[in-house]
Amino acid sequence: MIGVDNLSTGSESNLAHLSGERRFEFVEQDICQPFDIGAVDFVFNFASPASPVDYARLGVETLLVGSAGTLNTLEIARRHKAKLT
Ligand SMILES: NC(=O)c1ccc[n+]([C@@H]2O[C@H](COP(=O)([O-])OP(=O)(O)OC[C@H]3O[C@@H](n4cnc5c(N)ncnc54)[C@H](O)[C@@H]3O)[C@@H](O)[C@H]2O)c1
Repeated sequence: MIGVDNLSTGSESNLAHLSGERRFEFVEQDICQPFDIGAVDFVFNFASPASPVDYARLGVETLLVGSAGTLNTLEIARRHKAKLT
């Protein structure tokens, strides 16, 4: 499993419990930029500022992650024939 996050509102400390998990890899990446993490079977896209305070502070970023970010995750799913949920 690969977790992708730009840490704009998240924190690496949220992943502390996975530090010894060899099946998990973290990639710091803004999904609004094209990216490729290699072959995957599923893509789960939860990336977004996710509170009213962050929507106000990061208005443009919220719109971009919902548009460009979604497009880039769709591209990964298409390239690797993965399911996007
Ligand atoms: N928590 C809820 O009650 C709730 C309810 C309805 C919908 N949602 C939606 O579910 C999703 C996840 O919510 P959550 O509560 O887990 O939020 P969260 O803040 O815990 O996780 C969202 C993560 O997205 C990351 N992120 C933001 N922009 C990014 C970008 N451009 N590239 C890469 N990473 C980026 C943030 O750094 C953060 O770690 C959001 O889209 C949110 O709107 C959440």
